[in-house]
Amino acid sequence: MSKDKQSLAAPRGMRDFYPSDMAAQMRLFDTWRSAAEQYGFQRYDACVVESLDLLKRKAGEEIVDQTYWFRDKSDRELALRPEMTPTLARMVAARQGSLEMPIKWYTIAQCFRYERTTRGRKREHYQLNLDIIGETAVTAEVEVIASAVNALLALGLTQSDFRVRISSRALLSDILTAGGIAPDHHAATFLALDKRGKLADDKIKELLTDAGVSAETQTAVFAVLTLTNLNEVRTLLGDRDSQALRDLEDCMAGLTAYGLEECVTFDISVIRGLAYYTGIVFEAFDVAGKFRAIFGGGRYDNLLASVGGRPQTGVGLGFGDVVVAELLADKGLLTEDGARSRVTVGYMAPEQQDAAVKVAATLRADGEQVDLALHAEKPRAFFSRADKRAFARGVYIGPDDVASGQVRIKDLVTREEETLDLG
Ligand code: HAM
Repeated sequence: MSKDKQSLAAPRGMRDFYPSDMAAQMRLFDTWRSAAEQYGFQRYDACVVESLDLLKRKAGEEIVDQTYWFRDKSDRELALRPEMTPTLARMVAARQGSLEMPIKWYTIAQCFRYERTTRGRKREHYQLNLDIIGETAVTAEVEVIASAVNALLALGLTQSDFRVRISSRALLSDILTAGGIAPDHHAATFLALDKRGKLADDKIKELLTDAGVSAETQTAVFAVLTLTNLNEVRTLLGDRDSQALRDLEDCMAGLTAYGLEECVTFDISVIRGLAYYTGIVFEAFDVAGKFRAIFGGGRYDNLLASVGGRPQTGVGLGFGDVVVAELLADKGLLTEDGARSRVTVGYMAPEQQDAAVKVAATLRADGEQVDLALHAEKPRAFFSRADKRAFARGVYIGPDDVASGQVRIKDLVTREEETLDLG
């Protein structure tokens, strides 16, 4: 590629949206918005630039190393947000005293991560975020999951196209404790196990060794991952009391009550790569296993306190635009340019321009999407343009139409016409 051509491309991993790409993107955003609002979530928004300090957390999380950051002219360390959750925690902590809890908020946020760009991974993406803060009951998990599933169904997918895999870090902690693994090794164990599938098991064992987990204990950790259902977990825990197990069972029962049992499943290997999750965690994948996670989230108990607020629990998820678009395209469900709903108005000579402006104004006032020609043109040029840009209807005004006081609105697909009085 020549140097000039290269400079016309967006920076690697970043995205341009031409009008032809926007129809599908807007359909996704509209579906996200209505799925969130149908479940009673209120919209919020925030700045894309955050203080780097807010985003820095413990080492070991990929997202911290992937953050685009810079120093501004006053030497402040700022970053493009890689995710919305720390910003949400900051906003809630700032008004914690005056917000009526629990809150149910959603946003559609542009996020930036310096990732290796692969299928399903860009350096810039949009995420629907659904969060409930201040509710300890697992009804919060059920609502956020059901709302995201609602969006997937509204996009045309069926419950047999995807699975929401659910587990619980608190339950995994109980299991690890039952297996003799001390709680201070649990956080590092989670982050190491989350790398399964991305790193070879030997590499994961090295990470566990670095975190101080003995070789014998590592064997026990890997054995835990062979558990396939909650009955096995119950048997393994014996008569140990586990609130985490009860919560997960309640969450599964709640999802069943919402009619979602077909698309949710327990999967102990779901851990999530972000350090702040403390309870139930979940991720949705396509059933064929072709793509990366469609959405992911979980419960976070300590995030508000860690950004300077009062301790308060939260549950939420992030649902990206990239993977779901790949899945919809794979299923033939990506809609094309929506231009077919629009009308174009043209005219033959400057003498008919006033009539064309009047027709466009009338149609626009009726709520139609109207493209008014920017200059006079021959009928052939007008109809060829209307066809290429796939307008649904066309109005072409010549001297005879102005003289008769009537114009014809032509359906460009069926060729049927209706007349509109210029008066
Ligand atoms: P996450 O799993 O890092 O969670 O991201 C959520 C979703 O965003 C992913 O499942 C994926 O669809 C999409 N995504 C993430 N990174 C990329 C990327 N580089 N390119 C394309 N899509 C991407 C979070 O961000 C949490 N803050 C979610 C959350 C909200 N947890 C609680 N509340």
